[in-house]
Amino acid sequence: MPATQSKTIAIVGATGVVGRTIETVLEERGFAVDNYVPVATGRRGQKETTAFGKTWTLTAPDDVDFSGIDVAFFSAGASVSEMLVPKAVDRGCRVVDNTTAFRMDRNVPLVVPEINATRVGGDAMLVACPNCTAIVLVMSLAPLLAAVPVERVVMTSFQSVSGAGREALCELDEQIEADAGDKAPQVEVLPRQIAFNCVPVIGDALESGYTKEEEKIVEESQKILDEPELKIVPTAVRVPTRVGHAIAVNVELKEPLAPGRAIELWKSAPGVTYSDEVPTPLDAAGSDMVIAGRVRRDPTRPNAITYWVVGDNLRKGAATNSVQIAELFL
Ligand SMILES: NC(=O)c1ccc[n+]([C@@H]2O[C@H](COP(=O)([O-])OP(=O)(O)OC[C@H]3O[C@@H](n4cnc5c(N)ncnc54)[C@H](OP(=O)(O)O)[C@@H]3O)[C@@H](O)[C@H]2O)c1
Repeated sequence: MPATQSKTIAIVGATGVVGRTIETVLEERGFAVDNYVPVATGRRGQKETTAFGKTWTLTAPDDVDFSGIDVAFFSAGASVSEMLVPKAVDRGCRVVDNTTAFRMDRNVPLVVPEINATRVGGDAMLVACPNCTAIVLVMSLAPLLAAVPVERVVMTSFQSVSGAGREALCELDEQIEADAGDKAPQVEVLPRQIAFNCVPVIGDALESGYTKEEEKIVEESQKILDEPELKIVPTAVRVPTRVGHAIAVNVELKEPLAPGRAIELWKSAPGVTYSDEVPTPLDAAGSDMVIAGRVRRDPTRPNAITYWVVGDNLRKGAATNSVQIAELFL
């Protein structure tokens, strides 16, 4: 991995599941950090964080001076990004934003480096990192699309609880504990009980009957793949796994594509592979690879194939993709 010149970085949302994973990935990839500004409200009493071999004091969002910061990673929710990203950019700080705030802004590149790294021009100050499920989907679709045009995609995601953040993970643990103690599980963070359950509601419901998460998957995939008319029919489901999103995908192509050819395409593309052993979310957790599996012909449509794909939502779905973008900046 490329080592960089020493930099001052900030992570806004440093204590969250994505923020902590960004710290880990920066360390793993040899990103030279000589000064670190971890930003969070500290409302849970946490005052410090340890990363890059040192302990750093948390900075409150209102107190950040972005002028000396080379790159800021934002992962504290869209409202925080809407408020602070413009200030950071004004002060000459380059920003990788993990939230929904700017992803669909036509002036902001939405980047998965294996697919559209060229969108990060030399003078780019703000780049958006896509939704975690959209990243896993496009990483598996892009190699196929490069070989054969796609007619239509029907997909169902199985999204882990860490996709909803630190508090959702705590809620899962508390519900499992309540069940073991014969107590009623508390439901506060996620819309329905998640322990021992599957919940096909992620984000607000839209008038169309789809959810906000499903809309993001469609629109962001179209933007990343530069296929604004690509037809995608999504169902997004929260499942009680901790880390790693899975997607069942049915792709109808404009020409035939043999499953064996799809496997070759995945195996020769960067960041994605194919496994003959059925890949599960646990196999993807902790890895930066997106892993496809179980590819087979769709017997009901002449040019369609069906497959399964998994990826770590915190790593390639957020932190690793963000750090790759920062490497493009530098
Ligand atoms: N989880 C995923 O798989 C994933 C993937 C892609 C993108 N994202 C996006 O990344 C963002 C963070 O997600 P997450 O899962 O890491 O959530 P999380 O675990 O709940 O962490 C949120 C972080 O933001 C901080 N925060 C909250 N309000 C803040 C404020 N007003 N000012 C400054 N910091 C604030 C929190 O710290 P305090 O509470 O201590 O302030 C915490 O550090 C979200 O926008 C999410 O949509 C998440």
